[in-house]
Amino acid sequence: MLLYERLAGELRKQIAQGALHAGERLPSIRQLANGHGVSAATAVQACLQLEREGLAVARPRSGYFVRATAPQPPATRPARRSVPGTVSNPALQDVLDMLARSDLLPLHSATPAPALLPQSALTASLARCLRHDASAALDYAPPQGHLALRRQIAQRYAQIGAGVALDEIVITAGAMEAINLALRTVTAPGDVVLVETPTYHGILQTVAALQLKVLEVPNLSGQGIDVVRLEQLLQRNAVRAAVVVPNFNNPLGSLTSDVAKQALLESCARHGTVVIEDDIYGDLAWSGQRPSPLRRWDRHGNVISCGSFSKTLAPGLRVGWLAGNQWTDALVRAKYFSTVGSASLPQLALADYLQRHDQERHLRRLRRMLADNGQRLHEAIARHWPAGTRASEPQGGLSLWLQLPPGGDGRVLFEAALAKRIGTSPGVLFSSRGDYVDCLRLSCGLPWDERLDRALKQLGQLAAAAIR
Ligand SMILES: Cc1ncc(COP(=O)(O)O)c(C=O)c1O
Repeated sequence: MLLYERLAGELRKQIAQGALHAGERLPSIRQLANGHGVSAATAVQACLQLEREGLAVARPRSGYFVRATAPQPPATRPARRSVPGTVSNPALQDVLDMLARSDLLPLHSATPAPALLPQSALTASLARCLRHDASAALDYAPPQGHLALRRQIAQRYAQIGAGVALDEIVITAGAMEAINLALRTVTAPGDVVLVETPTYHGILQTVAALQLKVLEVPNLSGQGIDVVRLEQLLQRNAVRAAVVVPNFNNPLGSLTSDVAKQALLESCARHGTVVIEDDIYGDLAWSGQRPSPLRRWDRHGNVISCGSFSKTLAPGLRVGWLAGNQWTDALVRAKYFSTVGSASLPQLALADYLQRHDQERHLRRLRRMLADNGQRLHEAIARHWPAGTRASEPQGGLSLWLQLPPGGDGRVLFEAALAKRIGTSPGVLFSSRGDYVDCLRLSCGLPWDERLDRALKQLGQLAAAAIR
């Protein structure tokens, strides 16, 4: 047996016997080398071996840690809404009002913490734009958006293998406005739209505001959109549009496979359902492998693709976009009637930033941090939360979805946490009619520190008390 294998065996035994606990740091490379009389290279090889076996995880600049036994994924539920209905969920208003506070540890907010974003480079770009051409920065933008930024977005689509023409790109106030304009353009009040369940509450609110009816197709943790069910729903109902988040659904973080994406596109095209793709998390694959947007396989010209800089650069700049396909002219008109155009300064500053900086490098770091945060949240939940708590296995994005053990109530936990100044998102927010009472969403966007560790412990205690 090689030296490193012997050392790995030793550590494996300590983990199995509980001498090293889940989430605990392994001795440092130097300690292992000195303690076992081996070289540092042998100690590294032993740790790498444990990592390959799934027993240890490496954390940037912190060393190796014992991997926690992963909580089970959330249980699959029968589809709840197979007949079109209106969005009726008071939590969409009440809960969001309660979360509009600035004194909370923001575990409710699906955004990366400021420390994970290139704030000083963006500040420099904003200042440069004002210094060099204040007239352009302070003037109206064209309704479709500034060319320099649209060009950057078109280049990005080309890099990821989806052919989007520069002429199709319309700059919007975030992905939220993109989805809103798309829905207003392709639907009329009373039409039926298909959404995922669970899904992002902003989509549900827009659908409600536009007086549309909803049908829900399940999105499953670790699997993505159930396209077999989607086909059944489209066969039985006249559905005008589908608003979907195939790349890292919020709240589950699940990725829909390429095969399923293509099946979804064919089903929708066959049934005359326009696809509104929300690809806001596509750049945040924890594996580092950027999945393709639906647009890549759109043989029928039937997809409106929406994106945003909110999750990768700066949510407060309020810059997103859509690729409008055959609806581009109508969408540009809708944008004009809605806000004339998006603000010039943020658009010009983002174009400046993207020209000067290696965005891919920033994304690599961001994805690594999010994956690491997700892993630590998993470990903290396995250690501190009631036995039987289930957690999604996000493949990307910014959130982790939890299901409390039987009798658990996410709303009770949400309110108890709020009293301790910890923000969480109760599961009921992610359904058109208040399903997922036993669930909760946490953000993976906060870098791990003592305060977060304490909060997760505290939440675990509150979760135990939230079980009837
Ligand atoms: C799936 C999804 N779409 C859209 C948005 C809103 O994005 P934006 O800030 O770009 O409007 C969010 C924000 O959380 C989201 O999770």
